[in-house]
Amino acid sequence: MWRRGVGRIECDSYEQEVRRIHERVGSSYRGTFVTDPQEIERLVREISSRVDAPEEAVRCYVYSHLSLGKLTPFMMDDNLEEIMVVGHGLPVYIFDRIAGMKETDVFLSEAEVREIIERIARHNGRRVDPQSPLLDARLPDGSRVNATLPEVSPRGSTITIRKFRREPLTIVDLIRFGTMSPRLASYLWLAVEGLRTKPANILIIGGTASGKTSTMNALSAFVPENERIISIEDVLEISLMHRHWIPLETRPPDSEGNEITMDDLLKNALRMRPDRILLGEVRGEEALTLFTAMNTGHDGCMATLHANSAKETLSRLTSHPMNVPKIMIPALDIIVAQKKQMEGRTLRRRIFEVLEISGTEGENVLTNTLFRQNPKTGAVEEVLINGRYMQHLSSMSNMSLREIDEELRRREALLEVVARKRLKMKEIHEVVQLYYRSPEAAVEKLESYVMGERPKKKGWLDI
Ligand SMILES: Nc1ncnc2c1ncn2[C@@H]1O[C@H](COP(=O)(O)OP(=O)(O)OP(=O)(O)O)[C@@H](O)[C@H]1O
Ligand SMILES: [Mg+2]
Repeated sequence: MWRRGVGRIECDSYEQEVRRIHERVGSSYRGTFVTDPQEIERLVREISSRVDAPEEAVRCYVYSHLSLGKLTPFMMDDNLEEIMVVGHGLPVYIFDRIAGMKETDVFLSEAEVREIIERIARHNGRRVDPQSPLLDARLPDGSRVNATLPEVSPRGSTITIRKFRREPLTIVDLIRFGTMSPRLASYLWLAVEGLRTKPANILIIGGTASGKTSTMNALSAFVPENERIISIEDVLEISLMHRHWIPLETRPPDSEGNEITMDDLLKNALRMRPDRILLGEVRGEEALTLFTAMNTGHDGCMATLHANSAKETLSRLTSHPMNVPKIMIPALDIIVAQKKQMEGRTLRRRIFEVLEISGTEGENVLTNTLFRQNPKTGAVEEVLINGRYMQHLSSMSNMSLREIDEELRRREALLEVVARKRLKMKEIHEVVQLYYRSPEAAVEKLESYVMGERPKKKGWLDI
């Protein structure tokens, strides 16, 4: 049982004070909705200075009237990835970064859950009612949220919040968390950049919450800054340092049934002269649009897809509703497969396999395994580097395979230092972009950063 630690408060005893605070300041905060921990703290301080009430009472007021009620303390806890209301009379569940899924001692009534859902819907300019009982939306702090009403979830309304990370996971985190080795990171760096001649088309696959979006985001840092990036998602999650980036978001059907789908946005994006397309979660007809684009020369597309293996990916891609003809599949270069698993008592996300599509033979799509997890040791080992993609890259860039291999090693060494020094997102961006202009200058710049002065994060490997 997980008990609320950070910000544990008992608001029942402050009912009268909360009502008084609301009477006193409520009108000036009409429509205010905060979910960002720092914003919440700021509001508590601001209101405390305006009313004569204990700070605990003000906090209760902010939590209950201007934030997510009893769910607010979970928003304040940095170690949580997900907050889940599963129905009334049932405990709230949380997903802790290290310990995984836990039951809490917090219960919400159906009325409390509905009030929170209403607030979220209003903030997003959406309506939830028995006719449209599903809601996909964003909280003011950027967290992704889904809600359902009892029309579809008979045990009661539900809320699922994927908490936004103030600092998105970077390649440093992914190396230090053991998600990928510097060697694999170096290969993917090369593939994303493509030596300025042939950026790979990459699909990142995995189960729910296996870290697909985070990996796509971290790899996007390798896109050269002079390229035009367009990202398409249902709810904006991607976060880049690039200035020339246009994030697009789908729009669910309104009361008249008007809807802007991922496919609509992708078709539109193709008319916007993109150098890069990043697609969050391919699941429908947009897959065919994406593969058509890739087959007509759009390189450097990256997308995530929900599947547990490369085999499942190919069968999902080629059957309804994606319906990508097999002949189009080889436009995809690389599949990165990721999973989440408990290793001892630590939850780890790992890229367990990297494959490339090597062609088709009759009805079969052929693949090469590039990296694969050794089931005995658990380590992810290199199986083959110089497959179809590297050979293609070599002929397009006029570099021999040996020269490309040297380049891979150089980048691997650089990434090792980047990870050891625990560079932040902005610094990684600086070093990577500088590397494209002058590898020597990038190494020099890297040397200027102080090593390891930042606190070690929970769950990091000792690199
Ligand atoms: N490599 C990683 N190591 C540790 N934690 C991670 C890693 N990747 C992602 N996470 C955390 O796991 C959670 C899920 O990550 P993410 O949203 O990237 O997964 P996803 O596979 O895209 O999920 P979904 O299936 O819901 O789209 C987030 O809270 C994120 O911070
Ligand atoms: Mg995702």
